[in-house]
Amino acid sequence: MSIEPVIETMTGADLFAAIDLEAEIFSESDRWSESMLTEELTRPDRLYLGAFADKQLVAMIGVRIALDTDLMTVGVRPDWQGRGLASWLLQEMLHTLRRVRIIAPNHFFIAEADWQPPREKGAIEKSVRRVQRILLEVRASNEPAIRLYESNGFQHVGRIPRYYHRPEEDALVMEYTFSSDEA
Ligand SMILES: CC(C)(COP(=O)(O)OP(=O)(O)OC[C@H]1O[C@@H](n2cnc3c(N)ncnc32)[C@H](O)[C@@H]1OP(=O)(O)O)[C@@H](O)C(=O)NCCC(=O)NCCS
Repeated sequence: MSIEPVIETMTGADLFAAIDLEAEIFSESDRWSESMLTEELTRPDRLYLGAFADKQLVAMIGVRIALDTDLMTVGVRPDWQGRGLASWLLQEMLHTLRRVRIIAPNHFFIAEADWQPPREKGAIEKSVRRVQRILLEVRASNEPAIRLYESNGFQHVGRIPRYYHRPEEDALVMEYTFSSDEA
């Protein structure tokens, strides 16, 4: 029986599921430690979405939110790969980031589609900012991930020599830019 996953915002309560998922997806050298994952799931500038099938975490995506948002990770459990799950999570994250309003460094909220600042052209409106672009690094040999980003609107913008270790490898830098009417 195939169970349709649901996407939910992740919290610290998902820490152990995230540790297990990371262990299945990433090599030891690319994996985050338990303390790094705890930070990722609890810091106020982070947003993580998980895909849960029968309450089991089968995929996740996470960002550090700022005007230039960083895509921190995306991963799908091997038995769920190749079914469009990463694309679905990435699209859901893009949709959410369009609604993000940054009110101070490290503080944001997710606005309803029709949200307007309470005072037109006032101080509040000026101080509330939207995410402008997403940046990420990816191993130059990681074809599935590069394909995922390319087919979801990311552009190649650079290369960082020997960015990764064990094995040493260049990073490709990619970006997604929100157009002015959506960002
Ligand atoms: C990269 C990853 C997240 C893709 O997840 P997925 O759910 O299998 O991806 P999708 O099914 O949504 O496919 C997305 C695109 O990638 C392509 N793709 C997926 N797996 C592929 C593979 N093995 N080889 C080539 N292309 C592949 C798909 O064809 C699709 O492209 P399309 O939209 O042009 O058809 C998954 O392979 C993974 O978890 N890898 C290990 C972790 C990792 O490397 N994360 C990224 C770095 S942080």
